[in-house]
Amino acid sequence: MRMGQDASLFMQALSGARTPRAPLWLMRQAGRYLPEYRATRAHAGSFLDLCYNPALAAEVTMQPIRRFGFDAAILFSDILVVPHALGQKVWFAEGEGPRLDPVTDHSRLLDLGHPGNLGRLDPVLETVARVRTQLAEETGGQTALIGFCGAPWTVASYMIAGKGTPDQAPIRLIAYQDPDFLQALIDLLVEASTNYLIAQIDAGAQAVQIFESFGGALPPALFQRWCHDPVTRLVLNVKSQRPHVRVIVFARGVGQNLTAFGRVAEVDGLGLDWGVDVNWAAQAVQPMKTVQGNLDPLALMAGGEALAEGVRRILGALSNGPHIFNLGHGIQPTTPVAHVEELVRLVRSA
Ligand code: CP3
Repeated sequence: MRMGQDASLFMQALSGARTPRAPLWLMRQAGRYLPEYRATRAHAGSFLDLCYNPALAAEVTMQPIRRFGFDAAILFSDILVVPHALGQKVWFAEGEGPRLDPVTDHSRLLDLGHPGNLGRLDPVLETVARVRTQLAEETGGQTALIGFCGAPWTVASYMIAGKGTPDQAPIRLIAYQDPDFLQALIDLLVEASTNYLIAQIDAGAQAVQIFESFGGALPPALFQRWCHDPVTRLVLNVKSQRPHVRVIVFARGVGQNLTAFGRVAEVDGLGLDWGVDVNWAAQAVQPMKTVQGNLDPLALMAGGEALAEGVRRILGALSNGPHIFNLGHGIQPTTPVAHVEELVRLVRSA
């Protein structure tokens, strides 16, 4: 067995094996609910300064591993570094979330850089390499390293609206009014994201997760063209060039369309958001793919019986097949650290 590859429980589960216990990590596990993150963040300057500082970004990636012993580390970065690398203006307004200078037509698209020229992301790749080394030193390869990017539709939604929106109205309107422009933008993102993921893999990421956070904003008639096709192209591009990497697709809010990704042979794992019925997933998704999820982040915030019941229900439904325990979306900043400790204890002792 090659250390650091198949040695980790996470990689075993993602390879389709039933594991003695479910491996565990949490989306947004490096973040503001941790006092040590807030301390490092205060030193770093802006959020993007932290993303582009390999020493500090590696440090915050490792913080939740050292504190909780999670089975996987996820690179500390953001999905919006890709538009930033393409030359779009991106900033994080304190307390308000991401802001971008909107790209809404072909002329603005021409201002963006070439998808093969992502030099601005070199520091992020340096972070990946440092984390992989630190994980080998500190956990002997027991902890896997996950790289990531946003799915084209989700990243394009931010690029077009210039911010997060409740229902993705700006990109949905453009999908009807100017599909040629949207297709060109999506194609650019497929290419840039392919290059970015391959660079992360070459720097040391053993698995990659594609975040389609706004998959649920697509009406059924548009799902295939703007979510399924671009994500599938991205996965096939990566797998054809780096066949040994494992790929997780987290398509939030797509409901039964999860099975459409289940039929893509090159996908290894499917993230379940907290709206997915685990009994349905056990029957309809888990026979096709390793499933990952899906505790409601608010059950973790609440703690106590809500947390214990949620963990029991998920493990009860999903422990007969390959399963990675996670939340159904990112951890909320006001979550008590003690509740995360309790979650780790519950999953480990099940
Ligand atoms: O999971 C991890 O620990 C790895 C790091 C990570 C971040 N963002 C750090 C972050 C990952 C994987 C992401 C992905 C991401 N970023 C997504 C997809 C997942 C999802 O949540 O649906 C999206 C949509 C974004 C865009 C984004 N970045 C938003 C909307 C925000 C602001 C909202 C918020 O939580 O504040 C961010 C900022 C951000 N990204 C923070 C962190 C830790 C908080 C920034 C801070 O420290 O001030």
